[in-house]
Amino acid sequence: MDFFIDTGDIEEIKAASEWGIIDGVTTNPSIIAKTGRTQEEVIKDICEIIDGPISAEVIATDKDGMIKEGKELAKIHDNVVIKLPLTEDGIAACKWFSENGIKTNVTLCFSSNQALLAAKNGATYISPFIGRLDDIGVDGMGLIQEIRHMYDMYGFTTQILAASVRHADHVKQASLIGADVSTMPFKVIKQLFHHPMTDIGLAQFLADHEKSKK
Ligand code: G3P
Repeated sequence: MDFFIDTGDIEEIKAASEWGIIDGVTTNPSIIAKTGRTQEEVIKDICEIIDGPISAEVIATDKDGMIKEGKELAKIHDNVVIKLPLTEDGIAACKWFSENGIKTNVTLCFSSNQALLAAKNGATYISPFIGRLDDIGVDGMGLIQEIRHMYDMYGFTTQILAASVRHADHVKQASLIGADVSTMPFKVIKQLFHHPMTDIGLAQFLADHEKSKK
């Protein structure tokens, strides 16, 4: 499973990249707005740090506008993946990018039918939003399971990118189901490392080592 970091915070990306476990980065307009910088500036900086897929989202809502914006974003770096909303125009634009060899990440996916549409038009990634489904009392992980089953049954190669991940257990569950990627906020990546037994065990080892020196 690939690990992406879901942030525009350059310091977080640098820190996570030091751990050697980050394969790519996802952003969205809300994440970019938090940085107080332009999308182009943020994406350029991220591309300097991470050598992997970097998702940048279009703002236009019509197909031609999405294609125009996406073409500009794709010029920033070969690793840029064009993030498109799961709308009629977004799915139509997805087909255009697929046919023109530009990678896409179809976002705001909340149903398996939507995931089928993205796969049919050759999306590189589909982003089902687990946490936002859980928030409204719908089983987000159940959606990942359905999409995995459908894609495998029909041989679709679109990668399932578990998004809106809220805690480490989401990552575990998505991995067990066979999601191809989890994109996580920095704090969730940190959660993956930690277990109280590790802390207790390490403290004990260090204390014993101190005793053995005497
Ligand atoms: O970037 C898409 C997704 O990961 C957003 O997550 O936490 O805003 O629901 P969240």
